[in-house]
Amino acid sequence: MNCVIVGCGGHGRVVLDILMAEGEHRVVGFLDSNADVHGRRVDGVPVIGDLMQLERLRHEYDIEAAIVAIGDNGIRRAFADACERGGLQLINAIHPSANIAHQTTVGRNVVIAAGALVCAHCQIGDSVILNTGCIVDHETMIGTAVHICPGARLAGRVTVEAGAFVGIGATIVQSVRIGYEAVIGAGAVVIGSVQPLTTVVGVPAKTIKQRDVEDWSSWLIPKHFMDNPRLKIAEEADLPTL
Ligand SMILES: CC(C)(COP(=O)(O)OP(=O)(O)OC[C@H]1O[C@@H](n2cnc3c(N)ncnc32)[C@H](O)[C@@H]1OP(=O)(O)O)[C@@H](O)C(=O)NCCC(=O)NCCS
Repeated sequence: MNCVIVGCGGHGRVVLDILMAEGEHRVVGFLDSNADVHGRRVDGVPVIGDLMQLERLRHEYDIEAAIVAIGDNGIRRAFADACERGGLQLINAIHPSANIAHQTTVGRNVVIAAGALVCAHCQIGDSVILNTGCIVDHETMIGTAVHICPGARLAGRVTVEAGAFVGIGATIVQSVRIGYEAVIGAGAVVIGSVQPLTTVVGVPAKTIKQRDVEDWSSWLIPKHFMDNPRLKIAEEADLPTL
């Protein structure tokens, strides 16, 4: 199936590498909202335009599917909605070296990078990134547009709510709940539940920041995104759910 990767930055290159390793889709190009890179090649693949030009590009390149490779959790979710509204099927990129238990369910627009390990009876939501070498143990639920960074380890029966970010090398003990849009710092060891919109760091993890509830949808449609009239396509996106 002909597909595009939305976002040609570092994560986009990782996703290209995974799709090439999988060999199931033909990547016809990157889309990127930075017009300066249009017409260039990234790892040999042309940057053919942006999402605003999707209707024309779809026909020109016979594009059927897309995957959004943007690190920002909110933009990733919003762009995925825009791709679907534009008639594209959302695909996953799952590296052949990732190990995923049979009883696990995986949503759409999901990236599971090299060496990731997902154990029995997990639920992985839409637009999730399970990055290189992370471990997600049994019966863990990962909500929409969560990013589990490289080498992070989640024990059994953990719940990670929508839009949360679990930093590189962090450890989450069993049965805790990470609230929506929470940020777990690199290397943190989380031994109790984390409130929504809260940043925790350290061993054991302690709160360093708490955002207002009014900021709740800010990750979904960040301010700079709303201020850019060319990118209003995400305006109608639903609020994320777990
Ligand atoms: C947690 C994090 C998001 C905080 O960023 P921030 O909100 O900009 O916070 P600051 O850098 O202002 O740091 C605030 C305080 O927390 C401390 N701190 C920040 N991150 C920390 C971490 N991971 N572990 C321990 N302490 C940390 C800082 O030293 C600072 O302490 P001080 O007030 O005593 O000087 C960030 O430091 C982090 O860990 N990001 C994860 C990066 C990552 O995993 N990248 C992988 C991408 S694939």
